[in-house]
Amino acid sequence: MEFDSRIFIAGHRGMVGSAVGRELRSRGYRDLIERTSGELNLTQQADVEAFFQAEKPEVVVLAAAKVGGILANSQNLTEFLYQNLMIEMNVIRAAATHGVGRLLFLGSSCIYPKLAPQPLKEEYLLTGSLESTNEAYAIAKIAGLKLTEYYNREHGRAFISAMPSNLYGPGDNYHPDHSHVIPGLIRRFHEAKIGGQSEVRVWGTGAPLREFLHVDDLARACVFLLENYNQSQFLNVGSGEEISIKDLAQLIAEVVGYQGRISFDPGKPDGTPRKVMDSSKIRALGWSPKVLLKDGLKQAYLDFTSRIRDQA
Ligand SMILES: NC(=O)c1ccc[n+]([C@@H]2O[C@H](COP(=O)([O-])OP(=O)(O)OC[C@H]3O[C@@H](n4cnc5c(N)ncnc54)[C@H](OP(=O)(O)O)[C@@H]3O)[C@@H](O)[C@H]2O)c1
Repeated sequence: MEFDSRIFIAGHRGMVGSAVGRELRSRGYRDLIERTSGELNLTQQADVEAFFQAEKPEVVVLAAAKVGGILANSQNLTEFLYQNLMIEMNVIRAAATHGVGRLLFLGSSCIYPKLAPQPLKEEYLLTGSLESTNEAYAIAKIAGLKLTEYYNREHGRAFISAMPSNLYGPGDNYHPDHSHVIPGLIRRFHEAKIGGQSEVRVWGTGAPLREFLHVDDLARACVFLLENYNQSQFLNVGSGEEISIKDLAQLIAEVVGYQGRISFDPGKPDGTPRKVMDSSKIRALGWSPKVLLKDGLKQAYLDFTSRIRDQA
């Protein structure tokens, strides 16, 4: 990858795509191609073909996807499967047929089998039943990982994939119903603080153990892999640090400055009991995370407050 390579970041306005764009620019890559979903709907094959024909990208980062938390996933199975499959198939196929030299696809730790041994190793993918709440998303993501792997193995293309853990950081989605756990809790604790609420009730038992990675650490991993890695095997990218949802909620409440009670609602689904990845393969290649969770949460809270100020 050269500093003047034409690099298409699909999904450049998203949390991951914008972080990858920041990292590429800061490292000196200067020819980035970006399109919003309004300008180029990646579910439309003919439009994607015409775009690759006209723009001739040399490198593709596929960070466009329909993404959401447990509620959004479980209530929109059709769209999570259809849109993600279409985006992936169209972009990966067009990249292959239009001579793209390098492509990076993104999986997600939530697509490993629900009860796979922990920590999750790359080889555990497809060894058991999926978490039912995000089955549709997982099936689409697995198809994208496999298409990327097959182009690499069968056609010798430098098409690679990274498997990030739960992400958080600037550009996250703070929607009340469609967000992941960290942005969701940031919003709820902030609103509870402002509204003077004495209690915040958190979904589930609080027991599940999770691993979180700051999106800037993921972006560094993505660029590191584009520069250094060619193999068909996708690589886990996680912080390796586990925290229970209960401890996470307390930490976020502290960062936000919410002093009321935190209770848990065991009637709501917990999801996978424990999810931490074994990221030893990418660490052995030379990448490691830099952002500590508490520092990253402070930064995320600043991002949230600046965005609600902008919307006001
Ligand atoms: N967030 C996480 O915790 C997490 C964890 C693991 C893996 N990942 C993976 O990282 C990738 C990016 O996630 P994210 O959190 O950055 O998502 P995000 O913030 O929701 O951004 C997704 C981007 O995809 C674009 N997009 C969606 N549908 C499109 C379409 N039909 N045509 C063109 N663009 C479309 C959107 O573009 P517009 O803004 O222009 O509409 C949006 O900017 C996904 O593959 C996801 O699976 C995320």
